[in-house]
Amino acid sequence: MSLTVFRKAHFNAAHRLYRKDWSDEKNWEIFGKCNNPNFHGHNYEMEVGVTGEVDPETGYLIDMKILKDLIKEEVEDAFDHKNLNLEVPEFADLNPTAENIAKVIWEKLRAKLDEKFDLSVKLYETPRNFVLYTG
Ligand code: NI
Repeated sequence: MSLTVFRKAHFNAAHRLYRKDWSDEKNWEIFGKCNNPNFHGHNYEMEVGVTGEVDPETGYLIDMKILKDLIKEEVEDAFDHKNLNLEVPEFADLNPTAENIAKVIWEKLRAKLDEKFDLSVKLYETPRNFVLYTG
């Protein structure tokens, strides 16, 4: 029996979208308010999905405590109340768009999750704007 379990989590973080190799004018044109040099914050919400076979002995797909701790260590401790551009190494040279944040989260979790599982990361930057990354 294959299915997907989900764990919700959230973090607050600041970011700025811009490219160093573009002029100020072009950065404003493309990124608008998200280019604010003084940064701005979002309340990011995420849903991490783990897909696999349910263990017939326990009835579990994965111990949710393991998933909870993994998300805390890899995402919440690393991103919460941080300036993504300045304090999170993955974004030193990568624009912290919702697309790129979802991919970074997926890669961090993938590296620590048992290979027998498939993984998905849905990231909400606002209640209406969200992305899904499945690798
Ligand atoms: Ni923004």
